[in-house]
Amino acid sequence: MKIGFIGAGNMGRAIANGLVAKGVCSADALQCISASGKGSAKMAEQTGAKVASSKRELIEQSDIIVLAFKPQHLETITEEEAKAATGKLVVSVLAGRTLASMKAVFPDAANLVRVMPNTPSQIGKGVSTYCFEQAPSEAQKKTVDEVLASLGTSYEVVEDQLHVATVINGCGPAFYFRIAQLISEAADKRGLDKNLALQLAAETGIGSLELLMASKRDPQDLIDEVVSPNGVTHALLTSLDRQGLPAIIDQSTQDAADRSIELSQS
Ligand SMILES: NC(=O)c1ccc[n+]([C@@H]2O[C@H](COP(=O)([O-])OP(=O)(O)OC[C@H]3O[C@@H](n4cnc5c(N)ncnc54)[C@H](OP(=O)(O)O)[C@@H]3O)[C@@H](O)[C@H]2O)c1
Repeated sequence: MKIGFIGAGNMGRAIANGLVAKGVCSADALQCISASGKGSAKMAEQTGAKVASSKRELIEQSDIIVLAFKPQHLETITEEEAKAATGKLVVSVLAGRTLASMKAVFPDAANLVRVMPNTPSQIGKGVSTYCFEQAPSEAQKKTVDEVLASLGTSYEVVEDQLHVATVINGCGPAFYFRIAQLISEAADKRGLDKNLALQLAAETGIGSLELLMASKRDPQDLIDEVVSPNGVTHALLTSLDRQGLPAIIDQSTQDAADRSIELSQS
């Protein structure tokens, strides 16, 4: 399976590194190209991928083409380059670019896949959501699952659900980083060393969410296990609810999903 990356920045390199680290493909099956050559040189150094001399050459010599440049550059793919993708699988991680806009650029590809990955992919702990343009063949589904497994876990959704999924898995890392940052700042203000507070917040987050996954229990059950009547956790949760946390999460999810819809229409 030969894979060509157009765009070799943070996300492209995370995928390529994962593919090689997990043995999905060998370094000599990878090619890349980037705008200035900076990203592709870095990918080549990190993974052993070959740097292609042109996009057309890369597309011609690859079975799967991964689009990992900025979303606004999709239309810089020329008709001639797109023709070279005839009968091939094109996988895009371009945020907000719909399957329809990919189809307009690559009308003759065998199938198109739109993926929303996230940054923990850099350490193999990513979660991706994705959708196909056409019902995939078994081989196409297996290939995409293998490629995305190099980043972590992946879940297929229908394209309309990708806006909300994006808020959860695409934006999610920023949400958890912000929570950890706010908790450590609040603790620091009250006399706990900031670095220790960040460590406690991060480890507690990891441990709690791992418990949620491993136990397969409802979050409310696990909350009930921590809370005692009129205790400290009760005071924390009551204060969060009184100050509107449920409404904040609900409205911010809506605002971000609306922005995702807006971006996909521009
Ligand atoms: N980072 C995230 O959390 C995240 C999450 C989900 C989706 N994504 C998507 O992933 C894509 C890449 O993001 P990133 O964070 O990896 O960006 P990035 O680090 O800025 O990398 C962009 C890459 O694209 C190359 N490039 C720019 N214009 C190009 C063109 N016309 N043709 C070919 N290559 C071109 C750049 O070349 P040089 O290296 O030579 O400058 C660079 O290698 C974006 O579409 C983004 O929406 C990112």
